[in-house]
Amino acid sequence: MPKITELGYLGVYISDPKAWKEYATEVVGFEWLDDGEGDRFYLRMDEWHHRIALHVNGKDDLAYLGLRVAGQDELKEMEDHLRSMEVPHRVCSEKECEERHVLGLIKLEDPSGNPLELFHGPHLEPAMPFYPGRRMFGRFYTGAGGIGHTIIRSDNVDASQQFYSRVLGMRGTVEYKLSVPGHGKVTPYFMHCNERDHSIAFGLGPMEKRINHLMIESNDLDDVGYTYDIVKQRNIPIAITLGKHTNDRMLSFYMVNPSGWLLEYGSGARPSTHQTEYYTKDIWGHEFQMPATMGMADRGRL
Ligand SMILES: [Fe+2]
Repeated sequence: MPKITELGYLGVYISDPKAWKEYATEVVGFEWLDDGEGDRFYLRMDEWHHRIALHVNGKDDLAYLGLRVAGQDELKEMEDHLRSMEVPHRVCSEKECEERHVLGLIKLEDPSGNPLELFHGPHLEPAMPFYPGRRMFGRFYTGAGGIGHTIIRSDNVDASQQFYSRVLGMRGTVEYKLSVPGHGKVTPYFMHCNERDHSIAFGLGPMEKRINHLMIESNDLDDVGYTYDIVKQRNIPIAITLGKHTNDRMLSFYMVNPSGWLLEYGSGARPSTHQTEYYTKDIWGHEFQMPATMGMADRGRL
């Protein structure tokens, strides 16, 4: 069965490019790239042409997730597999591949209508080394683990789990059984495909946006503290304070980005155990500060 190897890129819709440029470069440390297309900008984290595409269209939500397969043969295997599983999909034209800076591309949706893009052959620019938007102690950790992880909306967690495991070859299930005051039990699902504990997660309950958060990781813990200071100095809302997760052992915090969903900034995650486990709470910290912006969500969950 063909397998996803990483969450390779994200496309997001934004309404305020000026706010995003300031936030992305001065707060987070992304490199801002403008290829002169007019309707989009790119954020770089490593030697890839980009990891995040910002599409300016007045919305503020996830546009698509880019899921990588190893190569041309694997993408063809995935196409055959989608057809045999009767999953609607579309093999994209050369022009569409060029638009995404990949060699091959298949577009489809998950059971909750989240747009997915299966691709191989991303455009890398090793001759244009990553140049962070502001000082960093280390570098963004991507590599074999991909961009990081994301929590997305699911309208039916069983259908989502079946889709991501049986159709896309990822593994995962419930990893937390959380008791949340006023909301009862919350049991999010975490799906993994590489050395990261998870690349895609879902199951936080009703969400208005398609995305709850994107996690990015630095290879230097001091970048987490440095970013935390910048966020506090600029009065950017912190949704979850510094803390350490039990599942990926990430030391991180969550802040609100200019589109109203969350960015988790972390460091020090452990590699995946490659087996299922579950937990009932985090190791320390991670206090919820802002129910209204948790995206878990726009309705005040968690
Ligand atoms: Fe996370």
